[in-house]
Amino acid sequence: MTITSEILFDNLWKQYITLNHSAQKIHNLLSQYCNGEIFNDHVAFRTFKHPKLGLQHLQTTFLKLGYQECGDYHFEAKKLYAKHYEHADKNLPKIFISELLTENFSNEFQQVFNSIAKDLKPDVLNDYGISYSGTHWIKSYSIYKKLYNESPYGAWLYAFGFCANHFTVYFNSLDKFSDLTELNEFLKKNEFIMNASGGEVKGSPELFLEQSSTMANEIDVKFSDGTFKIPSCYYEFAKRYPMPNGEIYQGFVADSADKIFESTNKS
Ligand code: NI
Repeated sequence: MTITSEILFDNLWKQYITLNHSAQKIHNLLSQYCNGEIFNDHVAFRTFKHPKLGLQHLQTTFLKLGYQECGDYHFEAKKLYAKHYEHADKNLPKIFISELLTENFSNEFQQVFNSIAKDLKPDVLNDYGISYSGTHWIKSYSIYKKLYNESPYGAWLYAFGFCANHFTVYFNSLDKFSDLTELNEFLKKNEFIMNASGGEVKGSPELFLEQSSTMANEIDVKFSDGTFKIPSCYYEFAKRYPMPNGEIYQGFVADSADKIFESTNKS
């Protein structure tokens, strides 16, 4: 089945708000403070490196919808690689896909992801809806915990599979707040928990991008060995600045993204 970008983002959002209950609440709260609709800066996905899968595979859906490959990013400590994509239609959000460099982890860790990839059927791999298809494997909490010790990112991917990891409010489309700090204070007053790793606001005007995010909700996830509360998805906020040429910066900042990844860590 082919898919339009409208259907794709609609399905992604619907799935996302079932995993992140705060997102719909924040969205409703902020809707009062913008002209019309809240603009989505980007939607982010996680995957792992594998000949059949990975970023190269997950990007296919977006390339077919007319997205272009733009910047790429390396995260040495977290053993991740990422790319971002932009569309000629500026009303469409940017896409940020990261992948876990599984070959840099223990044999046990690699085996989990190799068996996940081995079990993925061709119809899943070739489906336009792979980016919101969730998990296709039997998952156990004992394996989740082992993975978490090596990589919270990897554990999250194992538990949730293919889905939007986060949506991002484009701060510039809001008109109530003077800066991200003010927005963060507003969210905290409304009892949302912000990611404070490396400070609540990541980046700077000099880097043309500032970001903040909530900490992921903890939700009940059914594993083969029981149901456990684990961190799911988070909501991000991005404020972009014009570059010397007057154009608004559209890229990402690796140091900031590095800390934002920690929004799915256990708080
Ligand atoms: Ni992001």
